Amino acid sequence: MSQTPTTDISLGFTSQEEETAVDSLRVTGELPAWLTGGLVRVTPAKLEVGDRRVDHWFDGLAMLNRFGFAGGKVSYKSRFLRSRAYEKAQHGELMGGFATDPCRSIFKRVQAIFSPDFTDNPNVNLARIGDRYIAMTETPMPVEFDPETLDTIGHLEQADRLRAHVSTAHPHHDPQRGELVNYVARFSRVSEYVLFGLPVESSTRRVIAKLPVERPAYMHAFGMSGRYLILAEYPLRVNPMKLALSGKPFIENYEWDGAESTLFQVIDRETGELRGTYETDAFFCFHHVNAFDRDGELVLDLIAYDDSSIIDALYLDEHGPRAAIPPTELRRYTIDLAGGGVRREQLAEGTVELPRIDYGRRNTRDYRFAYFAGADSGWIDRLVKVDVGDGTRTEWSEPGCYPGEPVFVRRPDASGEDSGVVLSVVLDSAAGRSFLLVLDAGSFEELARAEAPHHIPFGFHGQYFR
Ligand SMILES: [Fe+2]
Repeated sequence: MSQTPTTDISLGFTSQEEETAVDSLRVTGELPAWLTGGLVRVTPAKLEVGDRRVDHWFDGLAMLNRFGFAGGKVSYKSRFLRSRAYEKAQHGELMGGFATDPCRSIFKRVQAIFSPDFTDNPNVNLARIGDRYIAMTETPMPVEFDPETLDTIGHLEQADRLRAHVSTAHPHHDPQRGELVNYVARFSRVSEYVLFGLPVESSTRRVIAKLPVERPAYMHAFGMSGRYLILAEYPLRVNPMKLALSGKPFIENYEWDGAESTLFQVIDRETGELRGTYETDAFFCFHHVNAFDRDGELVLDLIAYDDSSIIDALYLDEHGPRAAIPPTELRRYTIDLAGGGVRREQLAEGTVELPRIDYGRRNTRDYRFAYFAGADSGWIDRLVKVDVGDGTRTEWSEPGCYPGEPVFVRRPDASGEDSGVVLSVVLDSAAGRSFLLVLDAGSFEELARAEAPHHIPFGFHGQYFR
């Protein structure tokens, strides 16, 4: 577990400063004719500011990459997002981020944490809200962009003055209400989590619920079933008053305590009431996979780590991450809402991360298939399809190749849960560049690949926009 990741992943942690546009990439294999639209991903592509390397993978400057599909051809385009963090970096100024110390005075740090000067570098994930497309990090300042040209439009207009300090880059979509659902945490003497919906047609957020919290937990994502929103509070918590004055980078203010419990805060989506707080053993998690209601029970699938050491592992040295990715477990928690009991089971073997499902049709519902990046060797080196019903795994891998998040794209008018393709940007370390891999989601066999003109640094999440 403490092994250092293989050295030929270092290219994935090498900045890519080039902004590129290519009409037609070299394609081998055959693309499905129904695949039209574009896969847009966001990646921390610039890992140095001035002569200083960022301390942590989560602090690289955000670049958009778009693979466009039309008439059997694949186009490619990349552009940095012109966030405030990016503009400052152009002048050699490094904004404080997730774990990178900007070396500011104490006075400036306090200002930075409790003012809009906190980083807006949106390198984690993308979402669509009606006609608006946003890139996000974990501060509540999404950046709007054009999904075709990748031009930056500016900060998303949020007219409601819901002031907060942190958020997630993993909102949920509520197609019934036509809302993007997310939460923010406001740090104060009495801090609170605020769950909200952002309507498709509006820039005013609707508050769903407020939960006071003494020491907010670090939560990278949350769960949503048909009836409930689920905040999983891992025992990685912060004292907001200390945060303001500590002088440490953001995440280093959070303290892990494995003797504390993890708490599931279950909130009724309709009434905003707290249905209950349910307790289980300590664990840490970035990504929820799915959640659904079943006969008075709430089923919650997620990727669990024993503790929060994954955050430490992803600090960068000159070659890449400091340590190997610790083992994870694809885990199901079943919560008896009335009785209060919490059951736990493992859904499949192996270390997986970056989960995707057929979100549009299966999120909030019982489901069978999930897709992951697999990391049994210390770094992500395979794609894995899991049948969560029986734990069966199907894998794709190739020597020297390091894939990113597998994005499932449903074939229009198909009924099978795995009818479609899985798209993933793969670093080919021997070739020194990346390619877009297209797998048949059913068989997990390769259908096609399109060669990017250069390497694309490893990134987190992307979305397919039709
Ligand atoms: Fe994420």
